[in-house]
Amino acid sequence: EKGGHDYFMLKEIQEQPTAVADTLLGHFTGGKIVLDEQRLSDQELRDVDKVFVVACGSAYHSGLLAKYAIEHWTRLPVEVELASEFRYRDPVLDRSTLVVAISQSGETADTLEAVRHAKEQKARVLAVCNTNGAQIPREADAVLYTRAGPEIGVASTKAFLAQVTANFLVGLALAQARGTKYPDEVAREYADLEAMPALVERVLESVEPVRALARELASSPTVLFLGRHVGYPVALEGALKLKELAYMHAEGFAAGELKHGPIALIEDGLPVIVVMPSPKGRAVLHSKLLSNIREIQARGARTVVIAEEGDEAVRPFADHLIEIPAAPTLFQPLLSTVPLQVFAAEVAQTRGYDVDKPRNLAKSVTVE
Ligand code: F6R
Repeated sequence: EKGGHDYFMLKEIQEQPTAVADTLLGHFTGGKIVLDEQRLSDQELRDVDKVFVVACGSAYHSGLLAKYAIEHWTRLPVEVELASEFRYRDPVLDRSTLVVAISQSGETADTLEAVRHAKEQKARVLAVCNTNGAQIPREADAVLYTRAGPEIGVASTKAFLAQVTANFLVGLALAQARGTKYPDEVAREYADLEAMPALVERVLESVEPVRALARELASSPTVLFLGRHVGYPVALEGALKLKELAYMHAEGFAAGELKHGPIALIEDGLPVIVVMPSPKGRAVLHSKLLSNIREIQARGARTVVIAEEGDEAVRPFADHLIEIPAAPTLFQPLLSTVPLQVFAAEVAQTRGYDVDKPRNLAKSVTVE
């Protein structure tokens, strides 16, 4: 049942191309993005003037990624907040606010209470969920199911990639309803998304060097992760995976924050994993990251760089280079997250831990 793997999680990492493809399947029909359940009228969707994304843990990181896409495609302001914070605040919501609640289990206590908190103030709720008929989708006005299939490993992998994918569909559905994207533009974005599973597959085919590197770094006291733009939530997710699976201290930082504190942590031999943006995307993003890597390398960091194939400029600064295929900027996280999952799983196994059942953690957090 583990498909020849020692752990479910390792099988689930391999299943990610299918999780992404299945999540997309059937959601673009008749030239339109369609959700699974929609108890909101087209007019209500058009009237949305603000989006809040609420979630916990990895689902929250998928929400951070959603902000880049939704704001870019719809020009709607998007706030992303931990459900546990949102539910005890007094957020400004009304009937034209859309609250997107993301949850693999659909039963996470804080996310469910955030949904209820939102509904009390008449906000509309859209659930992104991996579990049919769970409580969160039941209480939502609209639902988009991630179709990752059951996830047994406690740490989220395929469900995370499916959430990232589903969030893109939510963004496209809003852009379509608001008319901020022409139908042919929506079709093009969807086609680009459909090309992603094959690219995820290619990343999976080339992760052996990542495993070797993980074994080499398995006794490191800490690992830092740096990213900018969509690479920033990827850095947070990479650090979370390492903490929960390998019980290793790890922190993700926005690369632009280096000089505001984290650079003081850099010392000889400290592993820093950097997520590079595409050199074909916004030039400024790429060049800023290059100078960040140069700075940390000059201070002795051991740089592990995830970069697009053919990114020659980054080579001199990468002590270890992990190449991923080219992809549209917004969709790159579907690729760059994968080596980080593999890395964390391999460090954990090298340290002798059960990656399916990390200590102190439960798959579904139904109590606060
Ligand atoms: C991390 C992880 C957790 C969950 C979080 C939310 O690998 O699995 O951080 O992402 O507990 O769970 P759901 O998505 O079920 O609400």
